[in-house]
Amino acid sequence: MSSRFAPLAAGVLAAAALTAFCPSAAARQEIAGGARASLAAHPYAVYLINNRGTQYCGGVIVSPTAVATAAHCLADVPASETRVVAGREDKREPGGVVLGVTQGWRHPDFRTVQEGSDVAVLTVRGRLPYAPVDLARDPAEHPAGTEATVLGWGRLASGGERSSSLRSVVVPVVENATCHEGYSDFNPASMLCAGYPEGGADACQGDSGGPLVVGDTLIGLVSYGDGCGKAGKPGVYTRITTFADDIAAHAGLSG
Ligand code: ARG
Repeated sequence: MSSRFAPLAAGVLAAAALTAFCPSAAARQEIAGGARASLAAHPYAVYLINNRGTQYCGGVIVSPTAVATAAHCLADVPASETRVVAGREDKREPGGVVLGVTQGWRHPDFRTVQEGSDVAVLTVRGRLPYAPVDLARDPAEHPAGTEATVLGWGRLASGGERSSSLRSVVVPVVENATCHEGYSDFNPASMLCAGYPEGGADACQGDSGGPLVVGDTLIGLVSYGDGCGKAGKPGVYTRITTFADDIAAHAGLSG
């Protein structure tokens, strides 16, 4: 489809919140349209629906039979009631596949998002006919300042509807010490932060579990944040390099 959306100017994306409405990003709603993203460029991006068909989290294809997401996404909706929607850029359209979940692995250390280990792997019923993401293995490959892209179908309005279409925004990886200033619980062993010091570009509610990528390599999963796009409050992501072996093992990948 429209891969012309992929090379959006970094400057435009920097100013756009991934979802048009997060309390602090309301004023930026008028440019959210600039942040539409295409599955042609990001075929591994998926979303999760509950048994009423409502989207509630994001996810990312890691193997032909498995999707990684945030552990906290399984708190509200058990794996048995979750379905994975892949290959559907716009929720209002019928394309792609909708697959049930046969098994959900949640990191055994997960308690709360602030305590980390916010990672889960869902095994789907059937196969996902889309290219999986690569898992980051070496944190040195995405040092602070690296421009990453976060993707999701999160909310468009406070307490209102979620985005119909996939959106993306570029966010730079943040220095661990800087992230710690924003979040006293920040644990660099388990988490990674991304965002601009002045805010403006971020994930938001409903984007949880979705991918933070550099090229086609997954470096984070949307985990939490204080509001959305607030200055000094970057998005907090599950650090993939820490959990790559766990994810691969539970996704049926070797090593
Ligand atoms: N916990 C949220 C969710 O369940 C994700 C929040 C991410 N927030 C942020 N500012 N990056 O969808």
